[in-house]
Amino acid sequence: MDLFDKLEGRPSPLGPFTSEGYGYYTFPKLEGPLGPEMKFNNKDMVVWSINDYLGIGSNPEIKKVDTEATEKYSLSAPMGARLMTGNSNEHEKLEEELAAFVHKEKAQLLNYGYQGIMSTIHALVDRNDILIYDELSHACIVDGKQLAMAEKYVFKHNDIESFKKQLFRAKKKMGENTSILVVTEGVFGMTGDLGILKEIIELKKEVPFRLLVDDAHGIGTMGKDGSGTGTHLGVQDGIDIYFGTFAKSFALIGAFIASEPRVIEFLKANSRSQVFAKSLPLPMVVTARKRLQMIKDNPQWREQLWNNTLKLREGLREIGYTVLPSESPVTPVLTKGSTDLCQDIMRKLREEHGVFVSGVAYPVVPRGTVLIRLIPTAAHNDVHIEKTLKAFEAIKDYVFEAAEKLSA
Ligand SMILES: Cc1ncc(COP(=O)(O)O)c(C=O)c1O
Repeated sequence: MDLFDKLEGRPSPLGPFTSEGYGYYTFPKLEGPLGPEMKFNNKDMVVWSINDYLGIGSNPEIKKVDTEATEKYSLSAPMGARLMTGNSNEHEKLEEELAAFVHKEKAQLLNYGYQGIMSTIHALVDRNDILIYDELSHACIVDGKQLAMAEKYVFKHNDIESFKKQLFRAKKKMGENTSILVVTEGVFGMTGDLGILKEIIELKKEVPFRLLVDDAHGIGTMGKDGSGTGTHLGVQDGIDIYFGTFAKSFALIGAFIASEPRVIEFLKANSRSQVFAKSLPLPMVVTARKRLQMIKDNPQWREQLWNNTLKLREGLREIGYTVLPSESPVTPVLTKGSTDLCQDIMRKLREEHGVFVSGVAYPVVPRGTVLIRLIPTAAHNDVHIEKTLKAFEAIKDYVFEAAEKLSA
């Protein structure tokens, strides 16, 4: 059979979400300056779906640096991979600053977090090793695991007994040349709960292993200084390899890994998606340095983010919604319902109330449940929150009746 003909019959995991909802439920176009107020289909929206946690996407001081750096270097430079001709002082300075920010010795810049973490996992373990990971890990960890030659064990999400079971299973299998790599997340992006880092790290005393933490949603938002979930939980030292992306709090593209110098040196030469791909353009690196400096200089942004998060969450709970007990700014509203209800909620909020949220249904969450995920940012204000709470109040009878029907 022709490969392209076969593709037509192959279902998308999101089903009608992608086929019928193109441009609306999937691939929507949010227009206008990045922020909590944007246009969707020419209508004004309060937006709760972008991960610009610290509200810096439209910061004029940053935009000025973006423009000046592009003018100075062009978007083309440098050409080539870091290892060949794509290195610069700016790349190296950014690495030093990132390492210091997350309290590690050395860092490696990554072009994109997704490919970067995949290659990191791939490079770190070989066929003698064992990789243990949380079942709800982000797709980039799952794909990194697919590439890895190691034996793979999975533990139930944030379940320390399940983790322990896999760890001791690994211990039994240990040969002279076997090492163990554990991978989990700082903040789980859909549900907002934190990885059980403290409990996991505690078990190093019983079975030695190295821990890689994907803190994509934690960097900038968690910890007193914004250095992430490890700092927030007081266990940053127990994280052997820290991963952060610029895709969220930095409102940019790019990412990094931070660890001991010998690990970073190894990864710089062996991380295939970095060795064989063009390095980040200089303006991106210059603006990443500026953004990092501004994140360090403006702790009030994080404070504002948390104030907004708590206000929004309390308000939703007062109306009667179930907000999952997230420990990060990610605000997940859970209800019983079908894919149709998920789409109805998004549509009603957008069309009748000018509130833009994103939701997921089966297979992203268990069948019969709908998860509406709101991402508060430091740029939201009380007017945005009140408007949104009013909208949720207005649709609640419809949502709760649909949930009741499903329970009956
Ligand atoms: C948990 C997690 N890890 C990794 C990534 C990938 O990062 P990037 O967007 O830099 O490729 C994302 C999404 O951005 C994410 O949410």
